[in-house]
Amino acid sequence: MCGIVCYIGNKPAKQILLEGLKRLEYRGYDSAGLAVQDGKKISWQRAVGKIAELERRVNGMDMKGTSGIAHTRWATHGEPTEENAHPQVDPEQNVFVIHNGIIENYHTLKRKLEKKGVEFRSETDTEVLAHLIAMNFEGDLSQAVRNTMLQVEGTFGIGVMHRQTPGELVVARRGSPLIIGVSDVGHFVASDVAAMVRYTDQVVHLQENELARVTADGFTISTVQAKFVERTTETVEWQAEDAELNGFPHFMLKEIYEQTMTIKNALRGRLEPGEGVPKLGGIIPVWERLMACRHMVIVACGTSYFAGCVGRYIFEKLTEIDVEVELASEFRYRKLNFPPNTFIIAISQSGETADTLAAIREAKRKGASLLGIVNVVGSSISRETDAGIYNHAGPEIGVASTKNFTSQLVILVLLALLLGRHQKLSLTEGVEVIRELESLPVKLSKVLAQANHIEAIAQKYHKCNNWLFLGRKYNYPIAMEGALKLKEISYIHAEGYAAGEMKHGPIALINPQMPTVAIIPEDEMYEKMISNIHEIKSRKGPVIAIAVEGDQKLKGLADEVIEVPRVIDILNPILAVVACQLLAYYCAKFLHRDIDKPRNLAKSVTVE
Ligand code: M6R
Repeated sequence: MCGIVCYIGNKPAKQILLEGLKRLEYRGYDSAGLAVQDGKKISWQRAVGKIAELERRVNGMDMKGTSGIAHTRWATHGEPTEENAHPQVDPEQNVFVIHNGIIENYHTLKRKLEKKGVEFRSETDTEVLAHLIAMNFEGDLSQAVRNTMLQVEGTFGIGVMHRQTPGELVVARRGSPLIIGVSDVGHFVASDVAAMVRYTDQVVHLQENELARVTADGFTISTVQAKFVERTTETVEWQAEDAELNGFPHFMLKEIYEQTMTIKNALRGRLEPGEGVPKLGGIIPVWERLMACRHMVIVACGTSYFAGCVGRYIFEKLTEIDVEVELASEFRYRKLNFPPNTFIIAISQSGETADTLAAIREAKRKGASLLGIVNVVGSSISRETDAGIYNHAGPEIGVASTKNFTSQLVILVLLALLLGRHQKLSLTEGVEVIRELESLPVKLSKVLAQANHIEAIAQKYHKCNNWLFLGRKYNYPIAMEGALKLKEISYIHAEGYAAGEMKHGPIALINPQMPTVAIIPEDEMYEKMISNIHEIKSRKGPVIAIAVEGDQKLKGLADEVIEVPRVIDILNPILAVVACQLLAYYCAKFLHRDIDKPRNLAKSVTVE
């Protein structure tokens, strides 16, 4: 969850590290710290709160040196205090460690160390790493880190500096991503390419149980068993400006607006309109197995899970495959028993979500085939699945996921259409879906054009403390996603419900202070949704309808109407959700929330 950036090269490290931390701040932001090495001198500082506070403190400090490590934290063990921030150090202040992940046997290790007389100064699990590396050090930092890796259980991405070994950094991973960046100003190591894209697009992904010794001129990678590994660099597709605001007040708003482009990117090179069949190069390795598949389980968390829930309805409509959707955090503990030829589809923007990773590992053990729908190229899920489809949505910096949700939906439609065309769908049906997919960016820009109208609705209702979101079928998951967006960034309590369930409980809450957002396209569920709206109005609940443009019936019934263009049923969620995203965004804005960095949340949930 936290962010790591390390640098060693020919430029002053302090500014480069601070800049890297700012780009990683979305990964965790309750405290931060950095250490810079100049020969055998290491200057360091930690601060509670945002990176700006750390920057304020180090600005006055004399921090010379062209190598250093830095960290932005999302607390797991111990409150966000200065003592618990990283780097963590040994008592002699020789070893400086920054760490993402959780050391699971830290209590046992801590007890053992305390028996040897070691005094702990923080409540973190990371501090054991600093003590162990210091004890294991006999002049070779890489070997000290290796020996420590053999003693610890759990997950980590670490960056280590030792006072006695200037001119080198040692980094290691197990479970938490680390990427080495090669540039003409030196080498970077970070948990996320965002920290280095300004300097390089040439990267190497460290793999499980590997460590790297990094200097200004090069790096060597070896395994925990000291076996050296050759690896060539890859080019990342992200540009520096992808991680900039470019005039928008928040990344979330920028990313909402980017959706016309990210949908095009998800479709680019993947459509064959004449044949009514998409092309998905990433699934070629498993094509035979996919053709034999009649049972799929989609596993994911949060917003990606809701994409999976829409996906189930899409697969039902377009294919003959039975699809289940499971929260990865539950699925990993289920008694798994798959029919032959089962595919697990893991959906994850980051490709690093701990529960989703654990779920696919468990499914693999039980013999299922694995497919990933992932945005971050080279991420753990993309590497551990048998095949996959990338979103190509570019970096998503806002903690609330927006553009990735819509690209996940587009990819699910493409996959279902491809399989469906080999099962029950005719050429005409395939061509129609492709034509409608191609129309999405223009239709989506019509939803964006209503931003002012949606902002006015948010202004009217943002002080209401409880909201209900209702939808049916394809839009039931959109109700849940709309509610999640609102609670994540505005801290307003919101519930997303299948509209048919309203009478089974939530109707008790309806009153004039509780707005209901009803997603009501002109589909087979339309009349049933209208009945739900009547039920709410009879109890004086305000209704904000997300309806199809030109719907006259709703204009007389709902208090507010947000219109989305007409599109085939399976694609309506892609337009409706953008209205929900904007509504959440503007409510949070009127409530003066920290929209891109909502409290307690982090972008990538790499711990269970
Ligand atoms: O990176 P992932 O897609 O695996 O992340 C899953 C969830 O943690 C994520 O969608 C989370 O719910 C977001 N904060 C939603 O806005």
